Amino acid sequence: MSVHAEVKRVTTHVLQAMKSQNEPIAMLTAYDYTMARILDAAGIDVLLVGDSASNVVAGHETTLPITLDEMIFLASSVVRGVQRALVVVDLPFGSYQGNSERALDSAIRIMKESGAHAVKLEGGAEIAESISRILSAGVPVMGHLGLTPQSIYKFGTYSVRAREEAEADRLRSDAKLLQELGCFGLVLEKIPRGLAEEISKDLIIPTVGIGAGPETDGQVLVTMDMLGLTKDFNPRFIRRYLDLASVIEGATAEYIKDVRSRTFPDIKESYK
Ligand code: KIV
Repeated sequence: MSVHAEVKRVTTHVLQAMKSQNEPIAMLTAYDYTMARILDAAGIDVLLVGDSASNVVAGHETTLPITLDEMIFLASSVVRGVQRALVVVDLPFGSYQGNSERALDSAIRIMKESGAHAVKLEGGAEIAESISRILSAGVPVMGHLGLTPQSIYKFGTYSVRAREEAEADRLRSDAKLLQELGCFGLVLEKIPRGLAEEISKDLIIPTVGIGAGPETDGQVLVTMDMLGLTKDFNPRFIRRYLDLASVIEGATAEYIKDVRSRTFPDIKESYK
């Protein structure tokens, strides 16, 4: 039987075993209890409480404004909805960069106050000290390389990363470093397929791709994109499994019609 079908709870060790058995890891984002319950019951392996909440929940243009307190609120809601999936939480911008003591405090707050199982940080060599410090406290860390949205003002665009050889080389060495430091896995975002394949083959730890082609050890999408709730965001790596925005619009229009025509609620929906 496959590893994922056998386990009652997904741990970092299960993800490692899945990589060893060549079983792809399915990961999605979640930001609330109700959705987390549904995704978990459907069998998702990893739920990421992504700082993409800053965009898709709070409506900010970038991931920078979301705070640690806000991430902890969202993460604790997700954790309460989950029985099987591993819950990974993004350390938000400003909660770890340039200060490993603050990084450890932030990671400990997330673990203690939300009950999540791991944290994710964006970056390579420049955050090595923060990653080591968090790991030394026994907190599992997932890395994130390639397009790292918290550095959008450094990059200037959300275009594909590491097309130039110098940046691809830096990414290769960052990936190795994150593995050596002890990260249990690595998100690779928006990089050329061939580079993602090479890194995934070179590393022992699993890679999870978003816009990185089919050869990574797993895939992740923002759930709102996958369900078709975000209509005006259309990069080529998104596959929409539903047009949920239209379904919701249709249901809402019907509800409004029923309220206005006084056909809702009816007798069965009222108390004597
Ligand atoms: O914040 C997020 O949703 C992410 C994924 C895109 C990997 O980091």
